[in-house]
Amino acid sequence: MRGLNPAGQLPTLQPMRNPIIVALDLPDPDKALALARAVGPHVGAVKVGKELFVSAGPEIVRTLRAEGVGVFLDLKFHDIPNTVAKAVVAATRLDVQMLTLHAGGGREMMAAAEKAAQETAASIGRPAPLVLAVTVLTSFNESGLAETGVTGGIENHVERLALLATGSGIRGLVCSPLELPRLRGILPPHVQLVTPGIRTGAEKADDQKRTLSPAEAMAAGASWLVVGRPIYAATDPVAAARSIAAMAGWQPA
Ligand code: C5P
Repeated sequence: MRGLNPAGQLPTLQPMRNPIIVALDLPDPDKALALARAVGPHVGAVKVGKELFVSAGPEIVRTLRAEGVGVFLDLKFHDIPNTVAKAVVAATRLDVQMLTLHAGGGREMMAAAEKAAQETAASIGRPAPLVLAVTVLTSFNESGLAETGVTGGIENHVERLALLATGSGIRGLVCSPLELPRLRGILPPHVQLVTPGIRTGAEKADDQKRTLSPAEAMAAGASWLVVGRPIYAATDPVAAARSIAAMAGWQPA
């Protein structure tokens, strides 16, 4: 995977904090909370996805925030603009730092979400959460996407949705590590890119097929790295989190 980082492709804006986001992909909310408590001080945030949120509810987010852990709420909203805006208001009141929606929801939906995040945060005196757009799910292949009526190719559709998102005021995107160079080439430098698919080479093989190392992903323009199994399935998750953060260039004060 070397060679994905031509000179000059580094983003001008790097996060001023630890870029590692640990995915709390554990079925048991107590175990997820224990993991978050252990690794929280060594990472930038934790990711609460659909399974954990549906089983544990907003209370787990409140608990994490009360303990000072940053939260990325990955519920991938996709609905009419009014409904998504209301969900974003609720997520902002929960004090999450990042949340996701589907760029396929369109300009009006994304603009309404960003406006809801900004206005709600301002009304309660907090920084707005980073609203992240998801373009084409990596589970799609060309024929699967064509069945939905999108026939111009996955890469073209990713670019179209990425530009639509940023043109709607969205300040960040979720993308695969292999999309980083192309997206960095077309997006304004302030756009934050969040990427899963991170592997160090030390873990056993799993279902992630197209991966980059933490250093490669940062060099290719990632702002944040979502890491699940390499941390939660490690023998020592805290040591793994610290080591992966160091590989991504993070130096604790
Ligand atoms: O365990 P692993 O490091 O593969 O976890 C990555 C996390 O990022 C999981 O929560 C997974 O659902 C999510 N994700 C992904 N690939 C995508 C989008 C999200 O792995 N394309």
